[in-house]
Amino acid sequence: MPVDVLVGCHWGDEGKGRYVDLLSERANIVTRFQGGPNAGHTLVVDGEQTILHMVPSGVLRPNVTNVLGNGVVFSPSQFAEEVSMLAKKGIYLTPNNMKVSDRAHIILQSWIDEDLKGSHEKIGTTGKGIGPTYLHKFRRDGIRVGDLFGRFENKPDGISKAREELSGLLKLLEPFVCDTVSYLNRSLDAGLYVVGEGAQGAGLDVDHGTYPNCTSSSPTAGGFCTGTGIGPKRIRDVYGVVKAYTTRVGEGTFPTELSDEVATFLATRGGEVGATTGRDRRCGWLDLDLTRKAYMINSVTKGCLTKLDVLSGLNEIKVFVHGNYVSFPGWSEDITGVREFGDLPENAQEYVRNIEGVLGVPFAYVSVGAERSAIISR
Ligand code: GDP
Ligand code: IMO
Ligand code: MG
Repeated sequence: MPVDVLVGCHWGDEGKGRYVDLLSERANIVTRFQGGPNAGHTLVVDGEQTILHMVPSGVLRPNVTNVLGNGVVFSPSQFAEEVSMLAKKGIYLTPNNMKVSDRAHIILQSWIDEDLKGSHEKIGTTGKGIGPTYLHKFRRDGIRVGDLFGRFENKPDGISKAREELSGLLKLLEPFVCDTVSYLNRSLDAGLYVVGEGAQGAGLDVDHGTYPNCTSSSPTAGGFCTGTGIGPKRIRDVYGVVKAYTTRVGEGTFPTELSDEVATFLATRGGEVGATTGRDRRCGWLDLDLTRKAYMINSVTKGCLTKLDVLSGLNEIKVFVHGNYVSFPGWSEDITGVREFGDLPENAQEYVRNIEGVLGVPFAYVSVGAERSAIISR
């Protein structure tokens, strides 16, 4: 069976988690491939919200094995927190349904401190130690999950100190540690269906994003291959998640950013508060130049539009294409209950069709509410 990869096409928070949850209905395995607890992925099922930072978004489906791939930077304490948060909901993580790559790099407290001292202010990082951990990985003096348990021949400097720092968590962690590269490839050979869960978004990619205001990993489809050890020819579809407007948390360029009453309208109706840091998200019109680039570098084959419902009530809706604004008439109806594309107000249909036209790839799904079922499948 194939692999589908799902990625964000803006600066994160497009609504990736809820689409991974959707694809998980049929998936056998969901794997994160980059980033770490800087992510905040929200799932809402029957009104109950679950926010995941470390554990993949397939976790609400009993049929899914969740994997943290080798490209992830791993926070043992955040993982432990989510294990108990999920247990309170009656979801138990075991070595059968949850695996952590032995090659994933560990976020140590000193690297969180480094992040908070350094780029937290300047870049507006999430302060989770992401940059310093990747820095140590690439400087080749990081600590991998497998190092904690003597899985590799070489003993890195600082391993005793790391084991000491994490001593309270080692017992919890050890059963989950896995050679995920072999596991994932074996599973594919056996015919299982794997979904790759991107964190962040194309605009935050360290190569393709708005450097230096970006994250320290590759949240794009290419990052999936290095971050899981699954070769590119196994990828079938790349799902690109696009919000019906654009948001950004932290510093950096944002050409379509608004500061007027429309910004307040989007922020309020869209609940645009960061799922990881609680910071207000900056809001603006849909930036299709950013989105087009995301489609290009990811070779997106299936679009997923989110938060169309948030736009209900605007007289005029703008999108940014080729450096200019194009204007569309809005609609006033509440569309959260709509499940057929043809039942959307004509202006909403027009808006979606025009975006598709610019992007050149149809939207396979349009979501009209945070709830799992609030999805129009086309
Ligand atoms: P992610 O990081 O890409 O997974 O997205 P986040 O979870 O950080 O942010 C998306 C927010 O929008 C969450 O609060 C979701 O519950 C919510 N959401 C997702 N899709 C929709 C939608 O179609 N309509 C509305 N109103 N909210 C949505
Ligand atoms: P999800 O997966 C939105 C942003 C931070 C900051 C920059 C660098 O929920 O979409 P980092 O801590 O990664 O070094 O911060 O990237 N950022 C995100 N913004 N959603 C995210 O994840 C983000 N992860 C990082 O705000 O500007
Ligand atoms: Mg998020």
